[in-house]
Amino acid sequence: MARRRQLYEGKAKVLFEGPEPGTLIQYFKDDATAFNNKKHAVITGKGVINNRISEHLMLRLHEIGIPTHFVRRLNMREQLIREVEIVPIEVVVRNIAAGSLVKRLGIEEGQRLPRAIVEYYFKSDELGDPLVSEEHITAFGWSSYPEIDEILSMSLRINDFLAGMFIGVGLKLVDFKLEFGRLWEEEEVRLILADEISPDNCRLWDVATNERLDKDRFRQDLGNVQEGYQEVARRLGILPEAGPRDLKGPETMQ
Ligand code: TMP
Repeated sequence: MARRRQLYEGKAKVLFEGPEPGTLIQYFKDDATAFNNKKHAVITGKGVINNRISEHLMLRLHEIGIPTHFVRRLNMREQLIREVEIVPIEVVVRNIAAGSLVKRLGIEEGQRLPRAIVEYYFKSDELGDPLVSEEHITAFGWSSYPEIDEILSMSLRINDFLAGMFIGVGLKLVDFKLEFGRLWEEEEVRLILADEISPDNCRLWDVATNERLDKDRFRQDLGNVQEGYQEVARRLGILPEAGPRDLKGPETMQ
């Protein structure tokens, strides 16, 4: 079979041309990076688990009326998505203090925040995704006030829904990152949720023990990264069908 044309390779995913115009294939790699690419590793099976988790969460969000780029999962590592123009902003929603918020503002890790806090980061690998305000975003034309309003309200809605869903399976949604894209339909531009939602871009802690089940296992060298991601999938009831070729290790998933 002719290999599909590769359009873009990111740190954890590759985008290929899709089967029809306006579609792309999103391929989930096993590569993990942290600290803007300074740290890199291959976590066997991560891409398979993230493909499944992201599919599941995008479908549940679609059910509550959040438009997403997800069309369908094609196989263990690939999903069909709608092609969008990515808004060059990473939207981080925080419920509990962790990560850069703790470092930047000296707030105690693990403290529940007075309300969900939304932050914007400019997507730029060269600059290390700097924190920016609505002022920067609108002045430099990365997005507009109406679009940012829509991004904010969708992000908070997504947070409410996902936090409730994770609590139901014994996980605290500490924080997470979203990306949005613009979709042109005739004369109209629609904003839809893009990228992925997985333990690569969420912090998820066990409710009882605060055990980290997300990418902090990799960032902080806590070990058993794949097992953490697998546990998230298990709790969501979506352990992927996996073959020995794709998921090495003694405890491959059923
Ligand atoms: P932070 O505390 O390091 O700013 O991260 C906040 C959340 O955003 C956390 O859930 C991890 C996620 N994140 C990404 O998905 N990509 C990134 O490049 C960074 C820095 C964070």
